[in-house]
Amino acid sequence: MKLLQGKVALITGASRGIGKAIAVLYAQEGCNVAFTDIKRDENMELCEKELIALGVKAIGYASNAASFEDSAKLVETVAADFGRIDILVNNAGITRDNLLMRMTEKDWDLIMDVNLKSVFNLTHACQKIMLKQRSGSIVNMSSVVGVSGNAGQSNYAATKAGIIGFTKSIAQELGSRNIRCNAVAPGFIITDMTGQLPEDVRAAWEKKIPLRRGGSPEEVAKVCVFLGSDLSSYVSGQVISVCGAMNC
Ligand code: NAI
Repeated sequence: MKLLQGKVALITGASRGIGKAIAVLYAQEGCNVAFTDIKRDENMELCEKELIALGVKAIGYASNAASFEDSAKLVETVAADFGRIDILVNNAGITRDNLLMRMTEKDWDLIMDVNLKSVFNLTHACQKIMLKQRSGSIVNMSSVVGVSGNAGQSNYAATKAGIIGFTKSIAQELGSRNIRCNAVAPGFIITDMTGQLPEDVRAAWEKKIPLRRGGSPEEVAKVCVFLGSDLSSYVSGQVISVCGAMNC
């Protein structure tokens, strides 16, 4: 039997990158997948097709995770379309890196809304369904910089640290209802987000990593399969780094 057979997952920001890798691995493990991104474009359509080809039910939804209203409506629609939500993966995230002296209020607020408020929005909306089911697994995408900080990323690191506090609180609050909540803290993962970095910055990062390479989205997705599945039935409130020993 596949690890996620018959389960339903909702994954945010999954038309590409780490979110898409999670969606694909989940589908390979028999999971039906509802996923979102900011708009319905060719990436979303391609992702939807790839998932359906794996023999599961899969629907992509255009929904802004930073919007409380959008998120509430989305969860209602997904529940109607799929009948339940077993796993919520709060993956959507962006960067607006800058030194504090150059950081604008707009960029601070945007990162708070997209990276941190989104986790509240979706978890808030899904909890009613998970409480009724008396089961659920919530996986929140943090980052190693949420633990260690990073010069030039104070806004981003603050949201990723905030996600860890939120994760541990929800694990304590909803544990008695058999709802688990964990965070994943990827290190340097090769995606469109990090692909924009200049070659020398990328090389400098890789030098600092004991495994001497950036990780792949699939390597993060494998940990999300573990956390979404019953293999992790007694794991909650934890932060699991996927960073090639960069943060240890
Ligand atoms: P990516 O930029 O390749 O993919 C992110 C996806 O989220 C995009 O498809 C984007 O359109 C979508 N998105 C952005 N804002 C959204 C919104 N408001 N509502 C719905 N969807 C939205 O990024 P990547 O690298 O795949 O990152 C995924 C997550 O992993 C993010 O939370 C990121 O902070 C985190 N992460 C990434 C690392 C890396 O090295 N790539 C390292 C640590 C954490």
